[in-house]
This record gives sequence, structure tokens and C-alpha cells, in this order.
Amino acid sequence: MTAEAQIADATGPIVDMGELSDYADARRLTAVEPGTHALTLTWSDGEQASFHYVWLRDHCACTECRHPQTHERMFRLVDLPAEIPAPSARITDMGALALDWPAMTGIDAHRSLFDPGWLRQRADDDGGPMTTAIEPVPWDAGFAEELPIIDHHAFMHTDAGLHDWLTGMMRSGLVLLRNGPTEEGEVLRAAERIGWPRETNFGRHFDVVSKPNPNNAAYTAAALEPHVDLPNWERSPDYQFLYCLANEAEGGASVFTDGVAVAEALRAEDPEGFRVLSETPIDFRFQDETADLAMRTPVIELDDAGRPTRIRFNNWIRDTLRVPGHQVEPFYRAYRRYWELLRDPRYTVRFTLRPGEMIAFDNLRVLHGRDAFDPNTGHRQLQGCYLDRDLLRSRLRVLARGSAPGAG
Ligand code: OGA
Ligand code: ZN
Ligand code: ZN
Repeated sequence: MTAEAQIADATGPIVDMGELSDYADARRLTAVEPGTHALTLTWSDGEQASFHYVWLRDHCACTECRHPQTHERMFRLVDLPAEIPAPSARITDMGALALDWPAMTGIDAHRSLFDPGWLRQRADDDGGPMTTAIEPVPWDAGFAEELPIIDHHAFMHTDAGLHDWLTGMMRSGLVLLRNGPTEEGEVLRAAERIGWPRETNFGRHFDVVSKPNPNNAAYTAAALEPHVDLPNWERSPDYQFLYCLANEAEGGASVFTDGVAVAEALRAEDPEGFRVLSETPIDFRFQDETADLAMRTPVIELDDAGRPTRIRFNNWIRDTLRVPGHQVEPFYRAYRRYWELLRDPRYTVRFTLRPGEMIAFDNLRVLHGRDAFDPNTGHRQLQGCYLDRDLLRSRLRVLARGSAPGAG
């Protein structure tokens, strides 16, 4: 049974809402004004907000309505009549909301308690994200001076290091780790610091070395033009990690470009080219002995507001161009111009990875490439893996639990 906690700490929550993220708030409820379908609450700072009765009944956090261990909803709206009678409502001595729902045919009376801070977090909710969103900041060549560089030990063993890495990644989509060990498998340990690596046809992790029978351009010594990995998947990996174990060969420098910023640059100088790349679906495909992974989609994907949000540019796994005849030349013109801009030193950041360094990037936004290298001049070995965006967001939310004022 939910009970109002008689807690000494005035900054803690008053009612257990079965929520692991923090919702404690010093502002208490002072008044409730019942209406026909909804009630209006007033907090101690004078703020007011309305909540529908049906919404309140659905969000009861008592141990019958919300499972005390899983924190998941047990309450089933469908078991109640479509018209739920209004409850009697009052503000408790502690400043929480208490609702007494009348008994109905076959249904017992029920009491719900709501924490004032929890309700306040949900007051006038505009449906936006539940955690503070970190907005991506576009960058160009000048970003070389601002690249987030985090010590491997801080990332692996401190909340602050992990937090800097996660926020840097969300903001700029490119973060360098430094001073790590040069041990095989370290790339997976780094990914596991956040979540569960995403397996693909290249395995749970992959070795980027020049191989005798390569099934991908990355496994040669050739230069790699700016690209994203696996645009031939409906769900391309969100993030990519490349951990450097050895880089002794001549050449092999890394190049990165913010593909979303460059898409905006293309739109500014060539709106028609931008339109073509964002509206023309083309094919991407990977084929080897055991796999044939294919996806048809535009190079530049736009969000509902028409902003570029994800890039699919990878020249070697682009498949046969299948577009109506009149679109062939406009497509190649736009593709060529975007490619030129992606390579343009005004937009690129270039450096050579050293052993014990790991570069990680947002694979939907930031393109990566490398210079050719000469395997006869020394060993070059990177290990790579992928991670889903959900796991980054999750890690950040879990970190926030501990650091929010009054959490507990
Ligand atoms: C890759 C890749 C870059 C490099 O493995 O996806 O692009 O520097 N590698 O070898
Ligand atoms: Zn309940
Ligand atoms: Zn790649």
C-alpha cells in the first residue's frame, strides 16, 4: 500500500511514485479545485495546473496499480467503466494530493496519493522528452580545437568522465578517448561501459586490418572516402567506436566530417541539389558468401521540420542506381557536389589515432574516412564495434539519478 512517507528530509519525495528518477520538489500543493472532468491544483509558489480524472486514475502509483518491483503499470483502464466517477479530492497535511475513488459495481473503492513534485514535473506537459535533451551543435574544421578529449581511466572509472563522454557525444557526435591500454577487446569493454554492443554481420566487434581476403573496403589498405557504416541496414548502427591498437604504417590518418552541417552548407549553396539528395531513394547493398543486406533510402534524411537528421553516404556499398532517366544526371550532380563538400578541408577534422586512443562517433551524423596506408611500413590495427542510441540515453538518465539535487 502506498503511504505518505513521514520522512525527516524535507527535500525528499513525499509519496513513493514508483519512479527511479528524481521528482522531489520543495514546492507543495496548497489547494485543489475539483471540476467535472478534471481538477486544478495550486502549488506553494502559486503555479497552477489541471489534470483529468481519467489520467489521474491511470497514473495511481499504489502497489496495486504499479508493481513495486518492476515499477510497471498494473492498473488496467479497460476494467473500469468508460465514464469514471469523479473522486473526492483533498490536499494532505504534507502537501500531497489524495483522491478517494467511489466504489462501482463490482469494483472496490480506491485511494490514490500523488507526490506534489511528481505532478509538478508533469504539469502542462507538452509531450517533449522526459529528460533534458542535449541539442546537437553543428561543427566545421574549427572543431579540431574543441574536440572533447577524455582520459580513458576517467571514462571507465568515474561518473564525471562518463558524463563528459556522453554529453560530448550527444552534442558534437565525436569524442576521443586517450591513454588507454593497447589490449585486444578493449573496444568492447569501452562500449560495455555504456551498454550492450550491437552485433552486425561483421560480428560483435571487428578488426580493422588489411586482410588477404577482405569482404569490405575497410579491411584493405586503401583510402576510405568519408562515409557512414552500414547505410545498407534499415537500422544502421547509431554509434561507432574505433579503438587503435597499432598505427605504425605510413599513412592511415583519420578524417571526420559533420555530415548534417555539410548538408546545410549544400542547401545554402544548392537548394535543388539538397532537395534531390533528400527526396531520391537510392540503393545500398552489402553482399558476401553469407549475407545480402540491402536498403533503399535517400542520402539525406529529414525530420518533420525539414532539417537533415541522418546521412547515408557510403560510396562503395552504394548499389546500382535505379532512378527514372530524367533523375540520373541531377542525382549525380548533387551527389558529386555533396561529396566535394564532405571532403572540403573547411569542414573536416583530421588527426592520426595513436595506440591506446579510441575515437567514437555518431554514425548517423558524422562521416569518417582515412588516408591510404602502406602495410609494408608497419602494423596498423583498429578494433571497432557499434552501440544503439537508446543505450546512451539510458546511461545518461541512470547517471542523472544519482546527481539530481534531493535524489534518493
Ligand atoms: C571502418 C573504418 C577507418 C580506419 O572500419 O568502418 O572506416 O581508419 N575504418 O581504418
Ligand atoms: Zn492504485
Ligand atoms: Zn567505416
